[in-house]
Amino acid sequence: MADTAPWVASVLTLFPEMFPGVLGQSLAGRALERGDWCLEVHNIRDQATDRHGSVDDEPFGGGPGMVMRPDIVDSALFEVVNPVDGQRPIIYLTPRGRPLEQARVRDLADGPGVTLLCGRFEGVDQRVLDAWQVEEVSVGDYVLSGGEPAAHILLDAVVRLLPGVIGAAESLSEESFERGLLEYPHYTRPADWTDRQGKERSVPEILTSGHHARIAEWRTEQSEQATRERRPDLWQRYAAKDNEGRK
Ligand code: ADE
Repeated sequence: MADTAPWVASVLTLFPEMFPGVLGQSLAGRALERGDWCLEVHNIRDQATDRHGSVDDEPFGGGPGMVMRPDIVDSALFEVVNPVDGQRPIIYLTPRGRPLEQARVRDLADGPGVTLLCGRFEGVDQRVLDAWQVEEVSVGDYVLSGGEPAAHILLDAVVRLLPGVIGAAESLSEESFERGLLEYPHYTRPADWTDRQGKERSVPEILTSGHHARIAEWRTEQSEQATRERRPDLWQRYAAKDNEGRK
């Protein structure tokens, strides 16, 4: 159990049974049991004011799907966001949002927690997002069926960074994005292994040489090559920073 107040995630959703879901397992699940973080789940439908429990309506201007009503989402936020946790950012998960990056994940882990708004249907009325200064975040350039799986992704990424959740600090500092590069490839025993096509596949020799400085150099080269080939966007940023450092 953490000495200080635990990191708190409040989730607003129409599908409360989707939580903790995958977050109840493995690393995040054990951290939840230990009290390293705390999960509060709120059913947005509890704010409905009619006997049908309606929370959405047709979009003004026409078009497909339904939009979550501003008054309903406002009541849900009002119930959850109190002056004590006023510093907790409110994030709406949407493919329209800014892409989630490791730097933002780190900032969230350093803060007191987060309030996550999960949308279904076509989205949420923009006015309530503006009124509450909600940050819009996307977990990737693809469309999910709702914000819930995106909330799982965001929380998984944050929770593993909370104090005490991952033991070895260096396993964090070496991983993808921490240095602005993708991680180098990994190998383990057996050193010689034959694949199903009969091809012998051995481990790169350098890794069994015991030469730590050269291994580190090889790994950096591998990281740089993977980043250049797979993520030209990250590579450009990394190269620009490197130039900056040399000036
Ligand atoms: N909701 C639906 N698709 C999403 C995405 N890519 N990121 C965040 N929330 C979403």
